[in-house]
Parts: sequence; C-alpha cells; structure tokens
Amino acid sequence: MSKKILAIETSCDETAIAIVGCNKIKFSILFEAVASQIKTHRSYGGVVPQLAKREHIKNLPVLFDSIRKQFKINSIAVTVGPGLEPCLWTGINFANDLAKKMDLPIVGINHLEGHIYSNWLNHKNKIKFPAVVLIVSGGHTILLQMKKWSPSLKASANQWKKLGETRDDAAGEAFDKVAKMLKLPYPGGPEVEKLALKGNLNAIQFPRPMINAKNYDFSFSGLKTAVLYYLRDNPKFKKNDVCSSFQKAAIDVLTAKTIRAAKEFQAKSILLCGGVACNQALRKRLEEESKKIKAKFYAPEMKYNMDNAVMIAAAACLGKHYKANKTLPNLNL
Ligand code: KG4
Ligand code: ZN
Repeated sequence: MSKKILAIETSCDETAIAIVGCNKIKFSILFEAVASQIKTHRSYGGVVPQLAKREHIKNLPVLFDSIRKQFKINSIAVTVGPGLEPCLWTGINFANDLAKKMDLPIVGINHLEGHIYSNWLNHKNKIKFPAVVLIVSGGHTILLQMKKWSPSLKASANQWKKLGETRDDAAGEAFDKVAKMLKLPYPGGPEVEKLALKGNLNAIQFPRPMINAKNYDFSFSGLKTAVLYYLRDNPKFKKNDVCSSFQKAAIDVLTAKTIRAAKEFQAKSILLCGGVACNQALRKRLEEESKKIKAKFYAPEMKYNMDNAVMIAAAACLGKHYKANKTLPNLNL
C-alpha cells in the first residue's frame, strides 16, 4: 500500500515542499513546489543565511496552506542536515509543529541521501550494483560506493560507503566563485556553463588538482586560484574561453576520479547527482566515459538535481532515518 509522505527541505536557499506517494520503489509525485530565493540573494553574490531563514519562515506556511486540505498525509520527512543551521531549524521546527498538530510520525533526512536517491525517482529498479555515486553540489563533492542496495535495508543503515571528498571547495562552489570573479550573476554554475559553450576549452591550461593522486579526494581551490591569477595577469581575457577552459579542467578531474573508482570497484552503474549534475557537459562526458568501461550512466531529471523536496521524500522511503528533534544528528557524511 502506498503511503503519502509530506517532505520539507530548507537546508539552503530553496524552500521546498512535496507530497509523494511511496510504495517500495514506486513513487507518485502528488504535489511539488520550490520557492527559489535566487532574487533575494543575487545582489549579495551568494546565500545570506539570515535572509534565507527569513524567506523560509515566510514561504513555508504559504506553500503548505495551498495544499493542506487536498491530501491525506501519513508521515512527515524533513531535512536535518547538512546545511545552513538557521535554515535547517526553520524546516525542522515547522515540520515538528505540523507533526504535533496532525498527530503524524516525523523523520529526519540527510540532504545528501536526498541527492543520492533523486536517481531512484526516474530510474528505479534499472540501477544495477555495484555502483559509484558522484555527488556534486554547492556545498559538497563526494564520491561514494554502493556495493549492493535493497529497499528493505532502508531505515536501518547507510547503504553507501564514502570513497573520497573535496578537501577544500566543492565543485559548485568553484563554479560560483569563478562566476563571481567574472562578474556573472549568482548562482554562477549555469552562467559559466552558458559562456563555456561559446569558448575554446583548450585556450587556457588550468591545473587539474589531484587528478593523479592515488585516492578519491578532490581539491578545487587551486583551480579557482589559477583562474584568479590568470585574470589578474591577462587583463584582456576572453570570458568565454576562461569559462570553457575552467569547466573542462573541473570536468576532467571529476570524470577521471569517478571512472577510476568505477573501474576499481567494477561498477555496473555510475550515478551523478546534486546541483552541478545540471551541467550538460559533465553529464555528456560521464556518459561517454561510462560507455567505454561498459557501465551504465544515470543522472536525475533536471529539476531534481537542484535542491527539492521530492528527493527528500524518496530518501524517507529508501534511505536512513534520523531524529528530527532538538539537536542536529551526526550524519557521518
Ligand atoms: O544541490 P544544490 O542545489 O545545492 C546544494 O546542496 O549545494 O547545488 C547548487 C550548486 C550551485 O553551486 C550552482 O552553481 C551549481 O549547483 N550548479 C551548476 C549548474 N547548475 C547549478 N554548476 C555547473 N553547471 C550548472 N549548469
Ligand atoms: Zn543540495
């Protein structure tokens, strides 16, 4: 029998609510809404946590009131981290108040598991294991291994093992910072991608940090600094070429490490997720390289790459459950 989950996501600058019917790995999305705060933060060039919190407080009741009478909800899921603390608490407090008023069970969800399970929304039981998962967002760059996976393990354990992560900036953060140096609007990732399409990807030889390191960690701060020095030393730089060459360097590293992990662990599937998974050049490159090693490549439908609540409902159905009460849990990720 399908159970209807109300999911709430407020970890950063999107206020998102969804109602999703879950029956094992079958999902029916009954309602989904994301109130984006891009306009609020754009003039600051990045997310301002206190402003984001204020927007969440304003948006949550509006989004929920629009649907409260339409669905019979069975449980509530709310993101409990990682994220900006003031923002997380807004969602957690709102969810707890609702759970009390409606007498419903409530679970806490790891935002990053939300990103991982966004791949189950459209690919469901097609994904074969072992798999490697590359999470690339504004706050994280993590490579995971999933040896096997089953929906019955769900709430009891993490079904993944971390192989490596960024030692400094996240991939999305590097895109955003390079965009800022080029005076492109926030969020920078999509802007850099747009200009990169018109540039020469071999115009500038930017470094590929840690590409040959014998581990699965990443580092993007050196690449970002290389862009900064290039702009300083070449006042007549071409924005399109900078974007194209920077994006190529970032994608080279992300792809090389993911494919090496996939080979080492004989992955049948390679899963991409997180906001940077919107990047078409990254998707295309990973898909091509996956083919060469006979692994299947998966990435979520575009709207589920960026922060959303549907992925939180999917993780509530398939992932680990945490407490959603007075202290933020240790998420181990
Ligand atoms: O997952 P997400 O929505 O939020 C976090 O959990 O961080 O990811 C947002 C990040 C931002 O850094 C944004 O610039 C990046 O994803 N992003 C992109 C693209 N679209 C969004 N980066 C590169 N290319 C894109 N097309
Ligand atoms: Zn995210």
